[in-house]
Amino acid sequence: MPKPSAKTSLEAPRRWFLVVPPGLEHVALAELKEVAGVEGEQKPGGVSFRTGLLAGASLVDRLRVPTRLLLEIGHGPVHTYDELAIWVRKLPLAPFLHATAPLEVHATCDNSRLRFHEIAERKVTAAAAEAIKGPRVPEWEQRYSLTQRLQLRIEEDQATLSIDAGGELLHRRGWRTSVGEAPMRENLAAALLQMAGWDGQEALVDPFCGSGTILIEAGLLASGRSSFTRTDFACREWPALVRQKWSRPAAKAGVPTLCGSDRNPAALTAARDNAERAGVAVRWSRLDVREVEAPASTGLLLSNPPYGERLEQAEPAYRGLGELMRGAFAGWRLLILTPEPRLARMVHPAIRCLTTFSNGGLKVGAWALGD
Ligand SMILES: C[S@@+](CC[C@H](N)C(=O)[O-])C[C@H]1O[C@@H](n2cnc3c(N)ncnc32)[C@H](O)[C@@H]1O
Repeated sequence: MPKPSAKTSLEAPRRWFLVVPPGLEHVALAELKEVAGVEGEQKPGGVSFRTGLLAGASLVDRLRVPTRLLLEIGHGPVHTYDELAIWVRKLPLAPFLHATAPLEVHATCDNSRLRFHEIAERKVTAAAAEAIKGPRVPEWEQRYSLTQRLQLRIEEDQATLSIDAGGELLHRRGWRTSVGEAPMRENLAAALLQMAGWDGQEALVDPFCGSGTILIEAGLLASGRSSFTRTDFACREWPALVRQKWSRPAAKAGVPTLCGSDRNPAALTAARDNAERAGVAVRWSRLDVREVEAPASTGLLLSNPPYGERLEQAEPAYRGLGELMRGAFAGWRLLILTPEPRLARMVHPAIRCLTTFSNGGLKVGAWALGD
């Protein structure tokens, strides 16, 4: 295993970047401030901030909204592919990469003399391998399961090389191995809970719960636990950090009322399995939206109703939701995620769009009723 350089400081401030679904940068910025007490800077598609190596890496399982956490390794001008290779060979990569695990490189080139990302990727892969070449390592020390990922961005002839602290995408929490139809990404569920200002005590209902994503994220948030059950983050294997001990926040006492329902029994089986893996207690019921009862006089109804089907199939779901909000849930707040403004307005004429953002390339809106 390569040894970290004696000069690798764990405390010296470094530049980090949170990759966030475009449109949710403000939510990630607020979360960073609340969780880490760090002031970030909002950029298109993410949040940039400065903190030490150890402090930054420890955020990987404490933040819930980002898709990726990147550490900047170097930034500088590049005009030719050879110049790029020479620059990469000189960067301090040994504290972050194992020569004995596969390396993925992803590049983007915008408005620059270097126009072909595939060539840039090949150059960086070869130069990085050269930079971390060490003595031959025995077979049993090789780590084929580790995801090492470098990200190169070339813009206006300026290159930024970053390493992905998570390795895998961070919406993959580890507990959602069963899914229903059109499951919501876990980090979007966390962003919606934060957007709704949910305090972890208010009753929460999802009448289109599918695989249970919103309620399970809510249960983990309310108990102060990490959203992750997996611990295989790339940064925990970085040579500079491999000897660190990582702690997990202890669960807080007090459980809010969490109720999930869906008319599809297979979705409920998936939701139950996922909740069990995450260790979150939810009351699950098989119900059509029109049959759902309010478990308290006030609370938050947060959901991701069906869409993308033929409209005549989705419409009854939104009309049913409207009946709930005028009936049993009249004192409740509502937040729904849908790409269809026309369907959202079917719920209630006073519904308003809080924000729109990109969900895997699809423009969706978060629509709210109540304060
Ligand atoms: C977009 S999916 C929800 C996905 C969920 N947020 C997740 O992460 O898995 C919509 C869900 O609504 C359910 N559904 C559709 N019409 C319904 C109705 N009238 N009553 C109750 N559930 C309904 C579907 O079975 C589906 O699971």
